[in-house]
Amino acid sequence: MDDECYSTLIVPAIGTWPRFDSPLRLGVMASGTGTNFEALHNAITCGDLDAQIRVLVVNKAGCGAIARAERLGIRCEFKDHRLFPTREAMDEELVRTFQNEGVEAVVMAGWMRIVTPVLIDAFPGKLINIHPSLLPSFKGMDAIGQCLAAGVTIAGCTVHEVLNDVDAGPILAQAAVPILSGDNRDRLNRRIQTQEHRLLPWATALAGQRWRSATRTQG
Ligand code: GRF
Repeated sequence: MDDECYSTLIVPAIGTWPRFDSPLRLGVMASGTGTNFEALHNAITCGDLDAQIRVLVVNKAGCGAIARAERLGIRCEFKDHRLFPTREAMDEELVRTFQNEGVEAVVMAGWMRIVTPVLIDAFPGKLINIHPSLLPSFKGMDAIGQCLAAGVTIAGCTVHEVLNDVDAGPILAQAAVPILSGDNRDRLNRRIQTQEHRLLPWATALAGQRWRSATRTQG
């Protein structure tokens, strides 16, 4: 296939965005350029996603997500993982940061580090991640490279709950995109990201319905 008009294969229809008793109080984690973080922010400001981003946490000095947070006026905290003796110690600091900001759920929007049960157990069922493949295929690093090397013709992205195993939690939403002739990492990445920016806010809204109804059930 070489026609960009086939650039969308199967993506979820976005229905009516749910409204909550009060906006979801989100923490966001990013290590990279931060386009998914900005997509969440845009979905909030245009009135689709009923949420607030209380804080963005980044672990890479100078990453694009920091500049975006400054431009968008969102509180950003840099946590240098190299300064923590263990992954758990770093995650304890993340939990403290999120709890101090009154965060109820956390979105990993391009977080390039393995997290531990310290973080996962602090937000049970309320820690979600976006991964640039159709899980369970191509887990881990360089999913797009893995996908191109495998010669598959359909790629995509997945939003899922985070469990201890990497890229393995229950799937919330997926979108498929084709791999076109002459694709390289950059072209395919751009096509996948277009879908990620649509999928992540929508999956967050869907997850939010579950988070809030669980809270009501627990009283
Ligand atoms: C996204 O492709 C996401 O799937 C992966 O990391 C990338 C982050 O991109 N986990 P950005 O920083 O949001 O632009």
